[in-house]
Amino acid sequence: MKLVVTESYEKSSRLLADMFEEVIAGKKNAVLGLATGSSPEGMYECLVEDYRAGKVDFSQIHTINLDEYCGLSRSHTQSFGYFMDRRLFSKVNIKEENIMLIDGTASAEEQAERYDTFLREHPIDILVLGIGTNGHIGFNEPEAVFHANTHQVELAKETIQANSRFFDKAQDVPASAITMGMAGIAGARKVVLIASGEAKADAIKRLFADDLVDPMLPCSILKVCRDATVVIDRTLYERMKA
Ligand code: GLP
Repeated sequence: MKLVVTESYEKSSRLLADMFEEVIAGKKNAVLGLATGSSPEGMYECLVEDYRAGKVDFSQIHTINLDEYCGLSRSHTQSFGYFMDRRLFSKVNIKEENIMLIDGTASAEEQAERYDTFLREHPIDILVLGIGTNGHIGFNEPEAVFHANTHQVELAKETIQANSRFFDKAQDVPASAITMGMAGIAGARKVVLIASGEAKADAIKRLFADDLVDPMLPCSILKVCRDATVVIDRTLYERMKA
């Protein structure tokens, strides 16, 4: 697991977009694993900018997103599907049939089966991850065990609290979600986690504190991924060292 420290969030975003574009340049029909939240927003902006400049082509690209809130449909403004449509899918030439999203309104078992079948047949070529303040990735919350497969999860209190900024009030945040499990994440050929902001300093510090892979710190799975990079900016780095 590599650590890369950049000068700013913007520089981190550019670096991630370049990593994605390098994979796409080598494989036109690459499978991109995508995350939502504020952390990857800058990367999506860079990808859209480069698409408009003719530097990247999504016409044969496949995508699969990490997670979705239970109960929210793609047209719900707080759903991750809606986020992806707004930030990326509606702005580039990706084909609708090549987009894999969890349907938060359908049965969790059915969605999990559909996701895991896809992942077995199409391992992810490059996956972007954000990180929760408690070290979660996707919606794999700190638990006694890692869940290999896609599954439904009850969200931790701190996750509901952190994500309430996108909703009118904390009570509106769904209490559960469906997330890709550790097999899908660790099966990715390349994983890049982006973190920025003080709130993430503790989780990143814990991640680099030792060699342990601990289900109570879900991001620690990156230590056994074949090619994992953590990209943070200098402000976060100074904070984590303090
Ligand atoms: C949610 C998502 C995660 C994301 C996390 C952090 O919980 N399920 O995939 O990494 O939020 O979000 P942000 O980047 O907005 O801090």
